[in-house]
Amino acid sequence: MEKIISLCKRRGFIFQGSEIYGGLAGTWDYGPLGVTLKNNIKRLWWEMFVENRDDMYGVDAALIMNPKVWEASGHVAGFADPLENGEKFNVMFKTSVGAGEEAIVSYLRPETAQGMFVNFKNVIDAFHPKLPFGMGQIGKAFRNEISPRDFIFRTREFEQMEIEYFVKEKDWKDFFENWREQMFDWMKAIGLPKKSIHELEVPEEDRAHYSKRTVDFEFDFPFGKKELYGLAYRTDFDLRNHSASSGVDLQYFEEETGERFTPHVIEPTFGVDRTILAVLTSAYTEDELNGETRTYLKLSKSIAPVKAAIFPLLKNKPELVEKAREVYMMLKKEIPQIVFDDNGNIGKRYRRQDEIGTPACITIDFDTLKDDTVTVRDRDTGEQKRVAIKDLKDSI
Ligand code: GAP
Repeated sequence: MEKIISLCKRRGFIFQGSEIYGGLAGTWDYGPLGVTLKNNIKRLWWEMFVENRDDMYGVDAALIMNPKVWEASGHVAGFADPLENGEKFNVMFKTSVGAGEEAIVSYLRPETAQGMFVNFKNVIDAFHPKLPFGMGQIGKAFRNEISPRDFIFRTREFEQMEIEYFVKEKDWKDFFENWREQMFDWMKAIGLPKKSIHELEVPEEDRAHYSKRTVDFEFDFPFGKKELYGLAYRTDFDLRNHSASSGVDLQYFEEETGERFTPHVIEPTFGVDRTILAVLTSAYTEDELNGETRTYLKLSKSIAPVKAAIFPLLKNKPELVEKAREVYMMLKKEIPQIVFDDNGNIGKRYRRQDEIGTPACITIDFDTLKDDTVTVRDRDTGEQKRVAIKDLKDSI
């Protein structure tokens, strides 16, 4: 963990929150490479689970909601952890909304899920979806964790990617299985090794107040096997309670059968920050290349923050620098996540790119000026091959 935390700081992935003031427990800031990695992960998730499907509806709800939401959801009464003395401590962050006498107490949302349940009727009225269908959301959640720890694993402000998938009660088991598989597909897509993932059937006494069945996906983090994601069967708990509490009918009307009922919910939930930690942990590699030890991040191309680095072989040869700039400008239009680097010798530049997980390094040398080919060096094997400039985009 120390090596990963140090690499994250040194290379501009993740910094301690408010560092110059000594930090603030449970908060971390993403730097330039971290935010790109995070955005790549979120974009991939959004494409896979929302955009590429006909049965999913994306939303982006407010972080601060009417406090009645948190009463109906059971969070005011039950979202608490035990303190040492056995006392229960509600981990929702309280805040006040409005000024003076008008101010009301509300909370920063502890899960994005409720932002979807309260918009269930809006989505039905606007789109008339047929069951089964789902809602998806990516956004911040806040929990005043009693003991934040393990870098970005347990923090007080974090991000979730969540799905509420609405089904008929009789179908819940099938969809639960189906989502289990889809969660594995996702973990594969971001390059997490299957052998590091373990399913845990969560016993009743450990389940959240709304869940009738939960499977946790645990991951082998450097500090032990810990929860990465969760899959829960939330029954009709949330819609039913919001109906009762708001007085707004949140039932679904099925035209074919003329039936009116409250759908049941399967909820796959993915922590963004834990995803990043799992990705960094499994990508972190130390090996020996050409007799030298090196550190590199074996990030999957789909999420690597830098897809390729362009180098002129020598910094002091204007014709090489000019040609390298030209190749860089050309590729940048097609693949924005590339960098130009002419700082230090080639070996140093390779090591820098290896450490941040750049899959390909492209060097412009004297042959390039003659035949318009470049060398492309592979991050994992160190192998180099000659590629024509016109084929570069496809090659990387
Ligand atoms: N809506 C369901 C829900 O919020 P959860 O298991 O409490 O379920 C979902 O949280 C996911 O959010 C977890 O699997 C984890 O990835 C992430 N998560 C929860 N608490 C976290 C924390 N304090 N810091 C970082 N990530 C957290």
